[in-house]
Amino acid sequence: MQEKIIVTGGCGYIGSHTVITLINHNYEVVIFDDLSNSNLKILDRIQKITGIKPHFEQVDLKSSEATHAVFKTHKDSKAVIHFAAHKAVAESIHNPLMYYQNNLFSLINTLKAQQDNSIKHHIFSSSATVYGNPSQMPITEDAPTQRSFSPYGNTKKMAEEILEDFTNSQSDISVISLRYFNPIGAHESGQIGEFPTAIPNNLMPYITQTAAGVLEKLMVFGNDYPTKDGTPIRDYIHVVDLAEAHLKALQRLLGPKSQPLEVFNLGTGNGYSVLEMIKAFEAVSGSLLNYEITDRRPGDVPEMFASTALAKQVLNWEASRSLHDMIQSSWTWEQNLRKGLK
Ligand code: WQD
Repeated sequence: MQEKIIVTGGCGYIGSHTVITLINHNYEVVIFDDLSNSNLKILDRIQKITGIKPHFEQVDLKSSEATHAVFKTHKDSKAVIHFAAHKAVAESIHNPLMYYQNNLFSLINTLKAQQDNSIKHHIFSSSATVYGNPSQMPITEDAPTQRSFSPYGNTKKMAEEILEDFTNSQSDISVISLRYFNPIGAHESGQIGEFPTAIPNNLMPYITQTAAGVLEKLMVFGNDYPTKDGTPIRDYIHVVDLAEAHLKALQRLLGPKSQPLEVFNLGTGNGYSVLEMIKAFEAVSGSLLNYEITDRRPGDVPEMFASTALAKQVLNWEASRSLHDMIQSSWTWEQNLRKGLK
């Protein structure tokens, strides 16, 4: 019998790639999504790639009644992978309540509904942003978490605290929290990737949209950081590697070694500067990128890259895709979008 897994936010960027990995490993997937930052067409793409169209429920997880009702319908599920959240850092600074309301209410309602329906396993989408400006590289999971510069980041830190309190209580729900570094790239089919709804915040979609002529110029936010070339260093990870890590986390939760709460970094362990990313993109695309050095962006830290040892040891997972693969797939996806794949 197939095990049924609920994927909240399964129509989104990381969620949709994870749904494909789960279906390819013979799980039955049901997606809960409010479509606030995604598109139903993704279901047809998933079907094109896997041969299976996942079951879909449009639901606003901010509503406890709606959450309760939809979980009741799917109470035979084994686990929840909870991607559903807002993720735009700048937007969160302008509208913090929207972020606290959406990201925290949806988590609380989901956990409550899991408790009521005895769905005992939960994987949470956390972020390396919970480390703030860490003092040691590579970052290990026991590094202290810090209050974030943005409400978005604080929702991730608070969510982890909620999960800690919850798993310390009488709850028999086991949780794995996955701290993503910088996800980029797209599915190798060219059918699935990030659908940007507004001007992007993140570096990679900004680069590809500039190269595609959608945006005029990439602004490089500061070149006076204490790094090798003065621009900040990040740990970019292929979204399909990230999807595979969710599969490994799920297998651990459903297996005999499941713990009440575990936290893992998901990165490659390699750091690349902004200028290195631009050069690597130029090499992949074969054209020069229009960019200009400008002022620092408030809140940016000089350097972030993951220690990958714990995920390797406990989950038996490590990223396998190269920077070239990440950039090539991002660029192919951008070109497909511009050719009308909307
Ligand atoms: C990377 C580097 C920028 C855009 C954020 C969130 C994090 C996670 C991922 C997501 C930085 C520089 C960027 C541009 C630039 N959350 N940059 N020009 O800031 O590491 O992490 O996104 O859902 O929680 O904080 O990623 O891609 O925004 O920036 O020079 O136009 O690229 O200054 O050094 P970041 P990023």
